[in-house]
Amino acid sequence: MIIAIANQKGGVGKTTTAINLSAACAMAGKRVLLLDLDPQGNSSLSLVHSEQINGSVYELLTELNEPWDNFINKTKVENLDVVPSRISLAKVEAKLVGDFDAIFRLRDRIEKIRDRYDLIFFDTPPTLGIITVNALVAASHVLIPIQSSYFALEGTDDLLETIEKVRARPNPDLDLLGVLVTLFDRRTALSKDVEAHIRKVFGKKAFKTVITRSVRLEESPAHKEAIFSYAPRSSGAEEYMKLSKEVMRRA
Ligand SMILES: Nc1ncnc2c1ncn2[C@@H]1O[C@H](COP(=O)(O)OP(=O)(O)OP(=O)(O)O)[C@@H](O)[C@H]1O
Ligand SMILES: [Mg+2]
Repeated sequence: MIIAIANQKGGVGKTTTAINLSAACAMAGKRVLLLDLDPQGNSSLSLVHSEQINGSVYELLTELNEPWDNFINKTKVENLDVVPSRISLAKVEAKLVGDFDAIFRLRDRIEKIRDRYDLIFFDTPPTLGIITVNALVAASHVLIPIQSSYFALEGTDDLLETIEKVRARPNPDLDLLGVLVTLFDRRTALSKDVEAHIRKVFGKKAFKTVITRSVRLEESPAHKEAIFSYAPRSSGAEEYMKLSKEVMRRA
């Protein structure tokens, strides 16, 4: 299963989910690869030290003859590998413009490595540009994190429309894996209203697990750790563990 974590809205928990969900699945014994497609390089930075970083996604998508082994980085989590991003990924868009099969680059690349892993995750940037489209074309599933706040669903139509377009032609097999409520605040009526609304709109596609807003989750990237080693008994650790079970069940 190849899962793109996508929402063109910024700051909704894509990267936090990519890191902790992939770590949870690896801890359950799955062989997991996390590809960081966000030019800011957050997922990679929090799991591998920058001085160890092998080639980035930029070269992966532009230097097509470079072997996979030049890109894969082991992490502190057993069974979890990462392909980091660097700021240079922003140049990918410019480089691929006008290229015939630009939207298939990632899919062609992934084809050669997918058998090595049980699960591959893509962390995507907050745009619906060529990088996110590459992820949707290469993925078998998409997971949409939605922040429980005002205007939570704003922009979701554009995302769903893009998913439909990708399904219409380049990737008919693309499935919505689920919608995840993030940054939930149990104390506010607003959060509960938004959650109820999301459940109404998405029905069974909404994951039962909700990710609560927590200081521990916010702090963990600064410590270059997934939540399970940084704060194993926190609500965030428990919730991402639960989410990983739901994801693996849907697989
Ligand atoms: N459950 C949570 N509790 C507290 N803080 C959180 C939680 N989830 C994410 N955050 C924080 O919110 C901010 C945005 O989260 P994150 O980077 O995961 O979102 P994103 O969708 O990847 O953002 P971008 O679109 O910019 O890539 C980060 O500072 C992160 O640490
Ligand atoms: Mg991010």
